[in-house]
Amino acid sequence: MQTPSGQPVDVTSSTRLVVLVSGAGSNLAALLAAHTDPAYGARVVGVVADRPGIRALELAQEAGIPTAVVSLKDFPDRAVWDEALTEAVAVFSPDLVVLAGFMKLVGAPFLARFGGRMLNAHPALLPSFPGAHGVRDALAYGVKVTGCSLIVVDEGVDSGPIVAQVAVPVEDDDDEASLHERIKVAERALLVDVVGRAAREGLVVEGRRTRFGR
Ligand code: GRF
Repeated sequence: MQTPSGQPVDVTSSTRLVVLVSGAGSNLAALLAAHTDPAYGARVVGVVADRPGIRALELAQEAGIPTAVVSLKDFPDRAVWDEALTEAVAVFSPDLVVLAGFMKLVGAPFLARFGGRMLNAHPALLPSFPGAHGVRDALAYGVKVTGCSLIVVDEGVDSGPIVAQVAVPVEDDDDEASLHERIKVAERALLVDVVGRAAREGLVVEGRRTRFGR
């Protein structure tokens, strides 16, 4: 992966991950299970949330990972919040930032600092059904196959280059909850695989195309 200035990011055996969360943290839990293996190639060095009192923060604390909470409501406006979020993440000196169920868009200061080395998990097959309700929207549309996507974050809403995707069939009796649970099983495996490969092998982004390697 590259810094905004085009310098390759040092993805070594100790790639430093910061994970941004907003909820249950099942994706974070999968990364925490993987990172205990030194061969995985990456380790979670910090967890940053946009709200207190969520299970994801408990999971981090149980694993002994430092956490920070940067709530939008504690700041006068979104720009100031974004600066604070950027600083909270920068404290951990990440090589790679993973948005794992983080339900806020990051702004220009955050992208300027971490752009090109930030991955987001989305529970739909992008570019279909971007936004906060990807599972609900896919179900309402009536698709027979949906899934999950791992993308490089850019300034748009789930619009960045796609790194990997997995398809998940929609069953006749699915509701949003049952479909999302099945997608999340695939999403956790995909996230762990992609983050590990990006750490061990590197990730090249050329326009909209991505590939593992250096
Ligand atoms: C994931 O499906 C993610 O893609 C979506 O919200 C869910 C978060 O799950 N944005 P968790 O907090 O990791 O359990």
